[in-house]
Amino acid sequence: MSHPSPSAPRPGGDLAGAASVAVEDLHKSYGSLEVLKGISLTVAAGQVVCLIGPSGSGKSTLLRCVNLLETPQKGRITIGDVEVTDPEADVDRLRRHVGMVFQQFNLFPHLSVLENCTVAQVKVLKREKAEAERIARANLERVGLAEKADGYPDQLSGGQQQRVAIARALSMDPSLMLFDEPTSALDPETVGDVLAIMRSLAAEGMTMLVVTHEMEFARDVADRVVFMDGGVVVEEGPAAEVIGSPREARTRAFLSRVLNPTQVQAPED
Ligand SMILES: Nc1ncnc2c1ncn2[C@@H]1O[C@H](COP(=O)(O)OP(=O)(O)OP(=O)(O)O)[C@@H](O)[C@H]1O
Ligand SMILES: [Mg+2]
Repeated sequence: MSHPSPSAPRPGGDLAGAASVAVEDLHKSYGSLEVLKGISLTVAAGQVVCLIGPSGSGKSTLLRCVNLLETPQKGRITIGDVEVTDPEADVDRLRRHVGMVFQQFNLFPHLSVLENCTVAQVKVLKREKAEAERIARANLERVGLAEKADGYPDQLSGGQQQRVAIARALSMDPSLMLFDEPTSALDPETVGDVLAIMRSLAAEGMTMLVVTHEMEFARDVADRVVFMDGGVVVEEGPAAEVIGSPREARTRAFLSRVLNPTQVQAPED
């Protein structure tokens, strides 16, 4: 299988602009439970990779390792030309360049929409408040929520809250966006708005690693799809191949469950 070549290294480890991601032989255990059993995958700069797989297969754990929220026991993660698993790496600096959007939004309920989008810019990036607000407003505009800037999260629908979470992440000028099932907690009628924003981000050349079970999105937007099960990559390839004609029986069984959720399945074993 051919992998896209990673982007050219930038001198000095500067992560400005879309960055590639390479995960090599990643192992992560919690006590005696081995959750990631040697995961390797790459996302070329500006590409979109969708990660699919059953519950408990380690998708969120993998994203948390890439975002440096978890420390793997073994293996390497490289973002751009910086090895983030290097014990000497400046974790705080690297984390600033990785935007993460979670299933449950994780907005601060006591802060306005605008403040949710400025607080980390001011605290972490040391931007002036006025500059942070200008950037936040531009990103709220981009997700179609400029008029909600002074509202609070509990006054917004789930889909609107998720769009704020995306605006908040974008306000940090990420080189890479990680999405962990961003639409799975949303009412069906708001899913499309969030997916539309993700599509436009992809079209603008953002590097994206997306855990999702939205197969139409994956088929249309992802450059590649990675199917994980039991802490290993079972199958990966172009989206149309993995979704349209999967090679592995486990991938086929999973896809048939996702694509026909109401159908009664025979037990697998
Ligand atoms: N902090 C933790 N401590 C102990 N076990 C954990 C921890 N985080 C995850 N696990 C375990 O690791 C396994 C993989 O979890 P993970 O959340 O990565 O799966 P997932 O593929 O994202 O599943 P889902 O589709 O349900 O979100 C599960 O068995 C989970 O219970
Ligand atoms: Mg998960």
